Amino acid sequence: MTHDARPALPYRPRRLRRTPALRALVSETRVDARELVLPAFVKEDLTEPAPIMSMPGVVQHSLDSLRREAVRVAEAGLGGLMLFGVPLERDAVGSGATDPDGILNVATAAVKAEVGDAVVVMTDVCLDEFTDHGHCGVLRADATVDNDATLDLYARMAVLQAERGADVVALSGMMDGQVEAVREALDDAGLTDTAVLAYAAKYASALYGPFRDAVESTLTGDRRTYQMDPANRREAQREVALDVVEGADIVMVKPASLYLDVLADVAAGSDVPVAAYQVSGELAMVEAAAAIGWIDRERTIAESLTSIKRAGADIIATYWALEAVENPQVRELL
Ligand code: PBG
Repeated sequence: MTHDARPALPYRPRRLRRTPALRALVSETRVDARELVLPAFVKEDLTEPAPIMSMPGVVQHSLDSLRREAVRVAEAGLGGLMLFGVPLERDAVGSGATDPDGILNVATAAVKAEVGDAVVVMTDVCLDEFTDHGHCGVLRADATVDNDATLDLYARMAVLQAERGADVVALSGMMDGQVEAVREALDDAGLTDTAVLAYAAKYASALYGPFRDAVESTLTGDRRTYQMDPANRREAQREVALDVVEGADIVMVKPASLYLDVLADVAAGSDVPVAAYQVSGELAMVEAAAAIGWIDRERTIAESLTSIKRAGADIIATYWALEAVENPQVRELL
């Protein structure tokens, strides 16, 4: 068949893919440093940062190294820093969480003293880092999680964190009524300007495994009575609606990559900003495969962040937040 005889195609999509400049011109999704939040771990009494075996590139910080990290976050122009505390002692009720001198409270004050309002500081409101059984709430005698008794502790935690300067308290425990309880406690304490980020659709995921290493916590049993069933999509809408009614300023979907359908639903229906958390297991899978040469690390990182954004996230919590800015091989793909 001659060239002339070939039927004219009504449209050729490849025209706009021909050169990098053309592709950049028509790119629908860009990931900006300002919408990335870096989660960071800080361990009580640590003098040097310590690596986390199942999270390559991520460390447990000392107070000093956390302060330096906060400066780096500010210089990179990231959207924020999300703090998790690793206490030395744990007990049944997670006393370290409500201790004014507990590691997370001390770290929050230290970071704020260092960077002030240049970085949005978010703090984790949950008991699992502080309890010896590893659950997100306190337990009854029969080892079930006591929802309403836990709410009182979350309220105290949130007020302490806000008093230390947290801009946003991030409620990750999945207790019913946690947003309302925390909002009310903050308002009663005069902390009306502290924002609440609700992990509204948080699934009972296997992908939090490496996080347990990061916070050195062991879990007795599982979390399926409070975190969502991975099989459920529609239920996420209900969780989000409840949290917004209770006063959530930002809602989050977690994990991110395996839940992009949920994220897209939530983003389509939400009138508050929507965040997504690219969790520890998402990092671990990519780093492990990249380390043995089975996938291209930088391209996979960029593709995962782009996909989370494309699905509708306004804010992405990711352990690769600095990488996305500081590693040119990632940045050029975003
Ligand atoms: C609860 C909390 C967890 C994560 C964020 N907040 C642990 C859990 O619910 O098991 C997991 C984040 C990650 O895996 O990176 N404090």
